[in-house]
Amino acid sequence: MSRLERSFASDNFAGAHPKVLGALIEANSGHALAYGDDPISLEVYARIEDLFGAGTRTFFVFGGTGGNVAMLSSLAGPGDCVVCTEWSHIHVDETAAPERAGLKLLTRPSADGKLTPADIAAAAHWLGSQHHAQPRIVSITQPTELGTLYSPEEIGAVCEAAHRHGMLVHMDGARIANATAALGGIGSLRSFTTDAGIDALTFGGTKNGIVYGEAMVYFPQSGNPTIERGVRYAPWARKATTQLPSKARFVAAQFRALLEGDLWVELGGRANAGAAALFDAVRDIASLALTTPPAVNSLYPVVPDEAAEELRKTSFFWPWDPATQRVRWMTSWDTTPDDVEIFAGAVRTCME
Ligand SMILES: Cc1ncc(COP(=O)(O)O)c(C=O)c1O
Repeated sequence: MSRLERSFASDNFAGAHPKVLGALIEANSGHALAYGDDPISLEVYARIEDLFGAGTRTFFVFGGTGGNVAMLSSLAGPGDCVVCTEWSHIHVDETAAPERAGLKLLTRPSADGKLTPADIAAAAHWLGSQHHAQPRIVSITQPTELGTLYSPEEIGAVCEAAHRHGMLVHMDGARIANATAALGGIGSLRSFTTDAGIDALTFGGTKNGIVYGEAMVYFPQSGNPTIERGVRYAPWARKATTQLPSKARFVAAQFRALLEGDLWVELGGRANAGAAALFDAVRDIASLALTTPPAVNSLYPVVPDEAAEELRKTSFFWPWDPATQRVRWMTSWDTTPDDVEIFAGAVRTCME
């Protein structure tokens, strides 16, 4: 079996889009103010404000974990904790960085990676007691760590429940491009973010074709006094968590390239289309237990260890739930139809 040049392991394995690399070179001329005050950063703050509405405030960071930790730190007061699912990246995949920053996480079980208003109600039980960490922030991931998508209505219901109890809602949008593409394109973006009541967003770029960089995006237009406090603390929370890029113009330039002509949504859609094509190519192999088409760019089939070992000769991929032998296959913005065909052929050989 020949090894694929592009893998089905993670969208983090993919390189950067040529327009992003071009933007880096273009930004590399002359000197500019550092720490986010340069002309490219100012332009991109305005573009992101256009996307989400007047009042939106953006702060660039180096990475996704850092963006989540810096943002949640800016939102949390003393004794506050963050409600999230047991699958959430902040809980499972961030090496206790949130806890190291003093953020207690209150996890909830979830079969599909989503939080519900009932989870918020359960967490709210502890509000007001000085002996318990105060659930004042809710963090959801869109799309979730299990490849599922919240509908705008589901997010609206979570936000409504959270706001009723005075909690803020943060969205981990490491793959928000995939969600936007899947939910109907650029026109759908506000329906599951600002219009649904989201207060703060970690806006992902890395998985979507940039070299490095993400953005903390605040929505003080929600009028919630606590989010205004978060915006005020953001510069210090970012620096204190080592996420302030001095040459921020290079992060901004990459985002500018992604935002130009909605390239970011197009790339998210391409990754999603790759996963849909892979699903179609292998769905008849019953033992994979792939019953529903992927919502975004990942599939979670059952692949016994021996077959997985063989299949990894074609492309590496991660185990996901060893208890059920589920693995994760993930497509990227640059996955080609040929990649899908070759990988699907290898799946067939290994599984049949
Ligand atoms: C849901 C989610 N959030 C955040 C991140 C960002 O992580 P990193 O610190 O690797 O950029 C990832 C990356 O895998 C992710 O899947």
